[in-house]
Amino acid sequence: MTNQTDAGAGHQRGDASDWDATTYDRIADPMTRWGVAVLDRLHLDGHERVLDAGCGSGRVTEHLCQRVPRGAVIALDRSAAMLVEARRRLASSADRVSFARANLAQPLPFSPVDAVFSTATFHWIHDHGALFSNLAAVLRPGGQLVAQCGGAGNIARVHAAAKAAGVDLDPTHFATPAETQQRLKAAGFIDVQCWLQPEPTTLAPGEPLETYLRTVCLRQHLDQLPEQDRTPFLHAVMQQLGEPVIDYVRLNILARRGAVS
Ligand SMILES: C[S@@+](CC[C@H](N)C(=O)[O-])C[C@H]1O[C@@H](n2cnc3c(N)ncnc32)[C@H](O)[C@@H]1O
Repeated sequence: MTNQTDAGAGHQRGDASDWDATTYDRIADPMTRWGVAVLDRLHLDGHERVLDAGCGSGRVTEHLCQRVPRGAVIALDRSAAMLVEARRRLASSADRVSFARANLAQPLPFSPVDAVFSTATFHWIHDHGALFSNLAAVLRPGGQLVAQCGGAGNIARVHAAAKAAGVDLDPTHFATPAETQQRLKAAGFIDVQCWLQPEPTTLAPGEPLETYLRTVCLRQHLDQLPEQDRTPFLHAVMQQLGEPVIDYVRLNILARRGAVS
């Protein structure tokens, strides 16, 4: 199955331009490492149909495909550029993967899947109530939701450095375990477990740090700046940051879809 759907992938706040997917693919070692560890929490026999919600360039999806040799994976992302990278990377699993360009903040056009898997994505979406309802709607009763995203306190050093450089970044989409648990239950999930996991990550100073901040942490804000202001802002943030450590805090999510009443 190699078809691609394109459903409601419209822009949201702060999404003026697409990802630099080639660079993301090259520098996403931290996300790939965490993603593969999260994948171990998904209980699979190998025949399931699994949605990767926010597949990005497909580095973690590639591992997911190996876990369902007789099943199927829907690699979903809102970014056209990410899906181009993902198609290239997942070409050898083409018999098992379909691609969907869709916005997780809007209802999804799929028949039910056995599991939803997602890494490093939910914090890019502001309305977690809508997100979890949309995921519940495409998950069969009893199906697993296994996910990880940025949680409360995530990249606080980067936000403090940006503030010292004159910019207040919006941290509200880094949710707490308690509020996430509440939103998941309200959306129809049961057996919900949420917890935070600090993952401080040291990057090489200079150009590697600059590329990382440009491509990932500061991407949305930079998109809103005039071209000529972007590099000076990045340099100001790097100077304020000092040690090239990104103080990641990951929010882990385990849940099952409750019975549909
Ligand atoms: C940091 S990447 C993570 C990709 C991959 N899961 C990984 O761990 O490397 C975040 C991805 O979420 C996608 N994304 C963000 N908001 C989205 C939305 N509302 N709907 C679908 N995808 C979204 C982005 O396009 C991007 O590819």
